[in-house]
Amino acid sequence: MAASPEEFRGQARLPHFASPLRYDLRLRPDLTACSFSGAAAIDVAVSAPTRFLVLNAAELSDLAPSEVVQFEEDEILVMGFDRELPVSEGVLKMNFTGTLNDQMRGFYRSKYECNGESRNMAVTQFEAADARRCFPCWDEPAFKAKFKLTLEVPSELVALSNMPAVEETVNGPLKTVYYEESPLMSTYLVAIVVGSFDYIESSTSQGTKVHVYTQVGKCNQGTFALDVAVKSLDLYKDYFGTPYPLPKLDMIAIPDFAAGAMENYGLVTYRETALLYDELLSSASNKQQVAITVAHELAHQWFGNLVTMEWWTHLWLNEGFASWVSYLAVEYLFPEWNNWTQFLDETTSGLRLDALAESHPIEKALASYIKKYAYSNAKTEDLWAVLEEESGEPVKDLMTTWTKQQGYPVIYAKLNGHDLELEQAQFLSDGSSGPGMWIVPITSCCGSYDVQKKFLLKDKTGKLHVKEFTASSADGVKDPNFWIKLNIDQTGFYRVKYDDELAAGLQNAIKSKKLSLMDKIGIVDDAYALSVARKQTVTSLLRLLNAYRDESDYTVLSHVCLSISKISVDATPDLSKDIKQLLINLLLPTAKKLSWDRKAGESHLDVMLRSLLLIALVKLGHNETISEGVRRFHIFLGDRKTPLLPADTRKAAYLAVMRTVSTSNRAGYDALLKIYRETAEAQEKSRILGSLSSSPDKDIVFEALNFMLTDEVRNQDSFYILGGISLEGREVAWTWLKKNWDYVLKTWPSSSLISDFINSIVSRFASEAKAAEVSEFFAGRIKPSFERALKQSLERVRISARWIESIQSETNLGHTVHELLQSGV
Ligand code: BES
Ligand code: ZN
Repeated sequence: MAASPEEFRGQARLPHFASPLRYDLRLRPDLTACSFSGAAAIDVAVSAPTRFLVLNAAELSDLAPSEVVQFEEDEILVMGFDRELPVSEGVLKMNFTGTLNDQMRGFYRSKYECNGESRNMAVTQFEAADARRCFPCWDEPAFKAKFKLTLEVPSELVALSNMPAVEETVNGPLKTVYYEESPLMSTYLVAIVVGSFDYIESSTSQGTKVHVYTQVGKCNQGTFALDVAVKSLDLYKDYFGTPYPLPKLDMIAIPDFAAGAMENYGLVTYRETALLYDELLSSASNKQQVAITVAHELAHQWFGNLVTMEWWTHLWLNEGFASWVSYLAVEYLFPEWNNWTQFLDETTSGLRLDALAESHPIEKALASYIKKYAYSNAKTEDLWAVLEEESGEPVKDLMTTWTKQQGYPVIYAKLNGHDLELEQAQFLSDGSSGPGMWIVPITSCCGSYDVQKKFLLKDKTGKLHVKEFTASSADGVKDPNFWIKLNIDQTGFYRVKYDDELAAGLQNAIKSKKLSLMDKIGIVDDAYALSVARKQTVTSLLRLLNAYRDESDYTVLSHVCLSISKISVDATPDLSKDIKQLLINLLLPTAKKLSWDRKAGESHLDVMLRSLLLIALVKLGHNETISEGVRRFHIFLGDRKTPLLPADTRKAAYLAVMRTVSTSNRAGYDALLKIYRETAEAQEKSRILGSLSSSPDKDIVFEALNFMLTDEVRNQDSFYILGGISLEGREVAWTWLKKNWDYVLKTWPSSSLISDFINSIVSRFASEAKAAEVSEFFAGRIKPSFERALKQSLERVRISARWIESIQSETNLGHTVHELLQSGV
């Protein structure tokens, strides 16, 4: 048994000899002084005799009683008692005070305008470990407890929490709001919002009330999200086989918000851009983002909130599943968006549970999993166990090879007579091959989707007999339509490298439009990744891209664009103009077909594709597109409602304007700033911020970065400016970052936001020398909040550097580029 509080320092997790059963919390935020006071009465169960209680607290003061020891660094609170606490239940009572901070974590303040004046609202963001900044607690997901909240707030304000209010008593300028007691839940899901809001409401088929809260005057922009929410709740009730667990669901837009959205139980918080949708002011891609985000956070109400991961190492289970299910839901709600394909398209890294998507028992098994672990916590293995039981397949063994080792495999495929020979190796972007081995679900189809073969590749190598497809005709000539595609529809999480013969067959299949959309995406994505890893030349990648010339689908092209912007960097300065021209030729026919103007009745995908292609063409330096963008921008300046520049194409025009801006010709920059200052729409602001730093003029980039530091840009929005920095501006951005580092670190303490600075600026470089320079600068400055971002960014810089070297050794590249350019016109 511990003898001194010191013994609890430096531990990763809290001791388990005492745990909370129920929190009775009373909080009183002061929105003017930006502080709060609170009182907690926690029912605690002691399971082994102890002289201490150990829980979390951070940045809280005036904690009583006086025998409390706070270890600030460990964010823990140790209470010593004169006598040993026996195995029993008791109540721990504490009063405390804290600051409503401006750091978008814990209990914080967000600012908004009301009748022309600036006001504060009080908001919480607790994931992963910031509930302790609001009240003393056992701040770990497995310490589930019931929460009974009481808030004392100015009487004219709206005060929300996880559960519905049961009683409200007004006492002059203050009111006290009492909330229903919650079911068992984790601390990171507790939420409070206090401010002035408008709302709209609806209810599910089960009668659960759903509200969307927005800033005053904006609640009609919540209609779309409300509709998606109601439909998603109804869908998930059936899908998870359990009704929505709480009596109400509120969703609310917060002007200052670190993440995109947060799934707090019964009170989901969002960035404005992720919740609000306006028929006239938003783009199709904004609309899609709102739908995906709502569906994602609501999936968490079951997967994450009702059943919670045991510890943060299993977080991927939470996020991976919520993402997967959200795309499933949006695919169901908006089949015409083709979101499922976009899911594959966008998820090129991280773990996808697609291998599981194939098997049917999942849906039944998921429901069992939710029921079995409801109001409790689960580990990754618990999910596999349930899936295994329901499906009779060796899910645990199979999945363990995927979740317990880093990375994923690449399958080398080659044709040897009538055999398709396969060999697996760990895929690493740096080109090395690790020792990893996986149980790989191989699927293949040959010449047609009607002919499929499947097997589990358990060893390093394997063989598939494909005689029926490789047989030559009597005169010895192979069927010209012969092709083999592995990983059908990209449902497995692995890449495939085909030998030349198989690759040529696939190119023909692409040209003659034999392949499914997903397979077309997969082939480009694999080829691109293999090229970065120096397993395939850029020369052959360009030839492959050329096969996509007649492609008109949004997802394939978006993917190609992504690859393009990465290829057309500094590997071959002399050739880069020609390569860009080649890529322009690839995109232009479809862009011309779509034009800048929306057509009556056109599809959501065409609207998205138009904006995507125009942006890509501007970035590739296509003069005609740039001047047309500038022309439309000038019309827009005179008439903000002009049909010539609706939300969907505006970003392309803004980027076009910025490509033409320089210090001596800065009217476009100033005009954009003016629009930024005038608009009240977060999505419009984000479009402008994303353009400001994209000028090729270094001084303008520098000016945009400094603008980011003014209070005209919310700290939550810095990543838009960072994300837009032009290639020409990367050097000035790096100088700027070094100069402002101390300020940046102090102002953006949250890990994800500070990491954006490093990712966006450092990753744009592509030389060993620069990697060394960056490492040197950060030596002695490293903090846990951005350590991983720095390592990953440096890795990317080094991968690019090696990739460039390898491209420079491709003797055929110039010749191929010119040949393709000539054949193209
Ligand atoms: N729970 C996360 C947000 C989060 C994760 C906050 C970790 C703090 C720490 C939330 O469910 C989420 O994933 N949000 C996404 C949006 C979503 C549509 C993928 C986000 O914030 O980007
Ligand atoms: Zn999530």
